[in-house]
Amino acid sequence: MRFWALAVSSLFLSYVLLCSCLSNNCNGGTTNGGVGDIITKALFEKMLPHANTDSCHAKGFYTYEAFIAAAKSYPAFATTGSDEIRKREVAAFLGQTSHETTGGTGWKPSDGPYYWGYCYNKEQNPPKDYCQQSTRYPCAAGRNYCGRGPMQLSWNYNYGQYGETIGRKNDLLQDPDQLIKNATMAFEAALWFWMTPQSPKPSCHDVMVGNWHGDGEGRLPGYGEITNIINGGIECNKGQIPEGEDRIGYYKRYCEMLRVGYGENLDCYHQKSYAIVLLVNSM
Ligand SMILES: *[C@@H]1O[C@H](CO)[C@@H](O)[C@H](O)[C@H]1NC(C)=O
Repeated sequence: MRFWALAVSSLFLSYVLLCSCLSNNCNGGTTNGGVGDIITKALFEKMLPHANTDSCHAKGFYTYEAFIAAAKSYPAFATTGSDEIRKREVAAFLGQTSHETTGGTGWKPSDGPYYWGYCYNKEQNPPKDYCQQSTRYPCAAGRNYCGRGPMQLSWNYNYGQYGETIGRKNDLLQDPDQLIKNATMAFEAALWFWMTPQSPKPSCHDVMVGNWHGDGEGRLPGYGEITNIINGGIECNKGQIPEGEDRIGYYKRYCEMLRVGYGENLDCYHQKSYAIVLLVNSM
């Protein structure tokens, strides 16, 4: 009696799981439609073949598991739109963050320049402390808000804003090195930047999923706009430059590995950049 009750209820449970899986459009029924069914651990590690070797400064820090765990906090990431759009968003995120963390430049690695993503988790020899006077996001004495994590998040106001989203603003401002101690948090901070529009910029996510269609100032939807959001003030509207080529090189390699087209407008070589953000007094 008990056996049959158990068998029937577990059959029912399988049926429920199968249905919820199908309605979430998942492949193979293991990952529930999240980023994990766009990219497997094996593929992630193939994209970043040096990240877990002695050649890389942040050896072993950036794990697939941390990426997947962090993405759960941003459920729209890599789940919006068609499979093509979802793949392209993952390729764009990994492409930009690979450039931000690359260790390849100058090492003349035999396998080419786009195999060296996720080598660093902290900016080396930062030229300044990335502190902008702010009452809402005050800098702690002696702290440097230089680039950390996949996106190389920098500036006190970015650490502070991300910290607010997890209810730990003061923690992050006091100890920005948390982003090189906790890989899930590091990916979360990168995804926070990716998912959150900072006016007048759209979010990287909205650009990649087609929710943003360009503006009246000549900026166009595509991977080049993501570069503009991340570092346009330094890199955009300067013609073809090596930084832009590197960002695009990673993106193309990952698109090919995910078997998806690149989309249009890959560069921002001739796009107007965004003005460097200056905080208003209220912040
Ligand atoms: C690491 O960060 C994640 C995401 O913010 C958090 O849930 C987890 O508790 C942190 N782990 C430790 C050991 O602090």
